[in-house]
Amino acid sequence: MKICVMPGDGIGPEIVAQALRVLDKVGDKFGRAFETTEALIGGCAIDAEGVPLPAGTVAKCKDSDAVLLGAVGGPKWDVIDPAIRPEKGLLGIRKELGLFANVRPAKLFKQLSAACYLRPDIVARGLDVMVVRELTGGIYFGEPRFDGEKDGERFGYNTMTYYEHEIRRIAKVAFEAARKRSGRVCSVDKANVLDVSRVWREIVIDEHKNYPDIELSHLYVDNAAMQLVRDPSQFDVLVTGNLFGDILSDEAAAITGSIGMLPSASLGAGNPGLFEPIHGSAPDIAGKDLANPLATILSVSMMLRHAFDMAEEADCVERAVEKTLEQGYRTGDIMQEGGKRVGCTAMAEAVLANM
Ligand code: NAD
Ligand code: IPM
Ligand code: MN
Repeated sequence: MKICVMPGDGIGPEIVAQALRVLDKVGDKFGRAFETTEALIGGCAIDAEGVPLPAGTVAKCKDSDAVLLGAVGGPKWDVIDPAIRPEKGLLGIRKELGLFANVRPAKLFKQLSAACYLRPDIVARGLDVMVVRELTGGIYFGEPRFDGEKDGERFGYNTMTYYEHEIRRIAKVAFEAARKRSGRVCSVDKANVLDVSRVWREIVIDEHKNYPDIELSHLYVDNAAMQLVRDPSQFDVLVTGNLFGDILSDEAAAITGSIGMLPSASLGAGNPGLFEPIHGSAPDIAGKDLANPLATILSVSMMLRHAFDMAEEADCVERAVEKTLEQGYRTGDIMQEGGKRVGCTAMAEAVLANM
């Protein structure tokens, strides 16, 4: 099993190094051979090769069975030409690999109930939401786009576009996911205002005809954002476009105790999947061994499950994470009184010991 590893920038190298120790341990414990190769993406690639997504990186990814990514970006590269920003590297590899479906499971580990910002009675109802975010379309990629001047002042725009086939295939992913869960999908859009959202809703409703066993509902994105903090237990699978999904998944992450907890899988057809935490490069804590490695470790678990069909191995990693939380280990991002306060390395070591 060939894995292309892209640590990226900021805390990326720290969290990926720890996640790879977990992968190594899985290899030892279950007698699996993982072959890893490193590639540059984001700011580090700009520094080394002048572009955020070198051709060699794309080739290495395509030649792998799965891709593991840390995070990209940072203040150092915020000032450069927007066409070659680190984030362009991430958007580029998603597009290159055709990874149109970003699956972001937001689950509140019961051990972190006290770290949840919501009222205890709401927390008690549980939070187990899967955000299915469209990843290669929408306003992120729509043309035309413009950053310049008009009528003597600064002026800019982007375009939110969706083709029927893009909506259909992400809706399918959501309905299929719901079949393995509680059987409910809520589609999130802004169909009361946006033309593109009316197309979105119509196609989701049409695709739903193939899934009569699934319950489908719709919410406008502003209401969805509100409902997510009012009572997250009402949701099972949320399906939405690129931008709304980006925002709602950070919100869902906060409810699980910290953005440092949420893994994700970016999947397409044919090419290897890309597994990454949903958070960014956290420049404010980079290089200090403070980052929470659990989102990346759980991304490895998603990789084992989805890319390699290794359910037992994935379960082992997830159980070890739960046990580590049970034992009280907490990195600084988890807002909770007490607990064993640890850094990135020590958190990962506790997970390793629990495997
Ligand atoms: P961020 O997710 O990097 O950080 C937001 C806050 O959460 C910060 O206070 C940070 O310290 C904290 N945080 C994030 N991950 C953490 C972890 N694992 N452990 C502990 N604390 C953690 O978001 P931002 O500050 O808006 O963005 C910083 C940079 O990261 C920007 O350049 C942005 O473009 C980039 N970014 C990259 C990705 C990605 O690579 N997938 C995702 C989001 C943002
Ligand atoms: C994410 C990030 C990226 C996104 C950025 C860094 C391009 O926020 O993976 O959630 O917006 O998709
Ligand atoms: Mn994001």
